[in-house]
Amino acid sequence: MVCHLSDPRKAVEPCSVVIFGASGDLTARKLIPALYHLCKEKQIPSDFRIVGLARREKTNDSWRDELRQALAQFSRTKPVNDAVWTDFARHVYYCQGDLTDTAAYTRLEQQLAGFGEPRLHQNLVFYLATMPSQFGTIVEQLHAAGLLHNRNQTNGDGWERIVVEKPFGHDLASAHELNRELTRYANEPQVFRIDHYLGKETVQNILMFRFSNAIFEPLWNRDAIEHVQIAVSEDLGVGQRGGYYEEAGALRDMVQNHLLQVLALVTMEPPVSLQAEAIRDEKVKLLKSIRPMSADDVARQVVRGQYFAGVVKGQPRPGYRQEPKVTSDSNVETYAALKLFIDNWRWSGVSFYLRTGKNLPVSASEVRVQFRPTPHVLFAAQCGQRLDANSLTLRLQPNEGISLHFNGKVPGTSVAMRPVRMHFSYDAEFGAYTPEAYERLLLEAMVGDATLFIRRDEVETAWQIVDSIRQSWDGKPLSNREFYAAGTWGPVAADDLLAQSGHKWREPVAAG
Ligand code: BG6
Repeated sequence: MVCHLSDPRKAVEPCSVVIFGASGDLTARKLIPALYHLCKEKQIPSDFRIVGLARREKTNDSWRDELRQALAQFSRTKPVNDAVWTDFARHVYYCQGDLTDTAAYTRLEQQLAGFGEPRLHQNLVFYLATMPSQFGTIVEQLHAAGLLHNRNQTNGDGWERIVVEKPFGHDLASAHELNRELTRYANEPQVFRIDHYLGKETVQNILMFRFSNAIFEPLWNRDAIEHVQIAVSEDLGVGQRGGYYEEAGALRDMVQNHLLQVLALVTMEPPVSLQAEAIRDEKVKLLKSIRPMSADDVARQVVRGQYFAGVVKGQPRPGYRQEPKVTSDSNVETYAALKLFIDNWRWSGVSFYLRTGKNLPVSASEVRVQFRPTPHVLFAAQCGQRLDANSLTLRLQPNEGISLHFNGKVPGTSVAMRPVRMHFSYDAEFGAYTPEAYERLLLEAMVGDATLFIRRDEVETAWQIVDSIRQSWDGKPLSNREFYAAGTWGPVAADDLLAQSGHKWREPVAAG
């Protein structure tokens, strides 16, 4: 029996999605393909408009042509369906203007009013695919043009929502300032902060898996679990994003958001309901229980790394310092590994290892829950320490699935055991339907459900954790033990981090 948790689903009302930074990469690669698929799958009403605002001179038609070409490249379903595209493209408009120029907002207002149907002018999603430094100006100009009101979303006069991309600031102080700017002319419930990991099916499944199955939750605590590893490895380097990456680094780019979000979902207490605020309350509570680290703790518990030239999947890769727009003596980390403790009743004393890096051997994201070993009294003579403890792997991507590893007797007359696994594969069970994270997130923003978006206190708490680490690194050059060759699993210092506690990294495999 399929149980629909949010049945009946709140319908999407006719609305306009205004994309700021419409000429950018994100619009072509992610936003337009996602909106096209929502239209194709009839998830949004036929009454919608998309308005792209950017500085370059373009007509509606020339922008549509550009988007059509980009869609051919980036669509998750191919070939693009011409009939769907033709219908979709009729809803797509371009508004030329500079984000700082009041005239651009007047034109935008007139364009929205000109759509005729009042709700296309009153129900508005503003997607800020721009530099964060532009958020404040956009919000102020929207307010001045009468397009953004500080209001409750449900008063019946229409609604406005602001969707913002990461990076959300570069530290706690800047995130705080961005939050202040965004909420000058809007209420916190109108702000939808994206972490695209929350749009992934497998990440959403973490809570379903934990709280709808009686057999795992009783074991989900310090009594049964020895440690947990969360890994997001990528087999690509920073490529053309060197300029951005020099300001970010792995800690800001991946740990502050994606890894801490996954950690929160794996470890939070059950929420009182499935409402957005109930879930977000629990996540914040969890993030606040992460033990703060002194500079000495950071030296012991956090490892950074940077790749030098190597070979990934048979392809030679340059070192980070040789990538475009990267300085030749950069100390920015392309790899980070952390050992965290959660000081609450459930998790006291359990180690949580997080690691992420660029130019590692494979791209794979997974959570591995390592259970405590059994007393070895029965099998010690034959197996000793070699007897594996049970583990559960939540494979987030690719080859999405869940595997339970346990020991089984090797058939035969001798007493021999080896690890075996029970495996659930998304593809085998549900078919290959894997919507892009942005489809789900755009739909939720249009519906007005904030569950999959990051609340103000969540983002600020995550920055607090990351800031304390950064402060200990600032001004300290990388040591020899912190470099790794592209195509390897990171610096040796990361192995030492686990070895201190008798643990070992589990390497995600390329295939399921
Ligand atoms: C982004 C980071 O947020 O996530 C990128 O800025 C990273 O550096 C990407 O490559 C990873 O996302 P995914 O969905 O490919 O795991």
